[in-house]
Amino acid sequence: MIRIAIDGPGGAGKSTIAKLVGDKLGLEYIDTGAMYRAVGLKLNRKGIKPDDLISISNVLEETTIDFVNGKIILDGDDVSDIIRTQEISKFASIYSQIPEVRSKLVDIQRRIAAGKSVIMDGRDIGTNVLTDAELKVFLTADSMVRARRRYEELRSKGVNANLDDIHEEIKERDYQDMNRKLNPLVQAEDAIRLDTSDMTIDEVVNTIVAMAARVS
Ligand code: C5P
Repeated sequence: MIRIAIDGPGGAGKSTIAKLVGDKLGLEYIDTGAMYRAVGLKLNRKGIKPDDLISISNVLEETTIDFVNGKIILDGDDVSDIIRTQEISKFASIYSQIPEVRSKLVDIQRRIAAGKSVIMDGRDIGTNVLTDAELKVFLTADSMVRARRRYEELRSKGVNANLDDIHEEIKERDYQDMNRKLNPLVQAEDAIRLDTSDMTIDEVVNTIVAMAARVS
């Protein structure tokens, strides 16, 4: 059994890389960011403010989040595509600071990973969710490189985007994720740092596959 934890800032390529490594090694891939995005989507749709902890707890109690064939299912609906906007990124980052939200999602994450080989990506996987993972990778890249990747991705989908705005949003989200009180984004002591600024996707995937071969 091998559990691989991939953490790092937004736009470092975690999801793309984790999915590909998972395919190569036959591991189930769990995108924890998608779970925070789904909760952000629901709380925002309901107009619940981040300081309304009672309403948040009530909503969480009646919320189900699941992965089916790589799709994220919120209360029975596939929300995989609609959670991928810059707006939902912001909500996810805001609501992910709330202890009730984190504890509910961390419970689900640990339950999904229990007793099987997985690759899970997020911000606190190596430091909190799977502290005894066999391999921990901290994936990072220069913030301008990350902004440019996101910009190219949006442009390729025909979405109008402004590089400087995306760069500002990425830096703001980094700040929020690294400075929140609960489970902030930090590199685990036993994680291997991989700066992907000058690496291709293939190079990153092959590097992680080689690391996995060494620990299993
Ligand atoms: O990885 P992604 O950009 O989809 O994550 C969206 C947001 O969810 C992050 O900015 C972060 O605030 C939050 N998140 C988190 N812990 C995780 C995964 C994501 O707080 N394990």
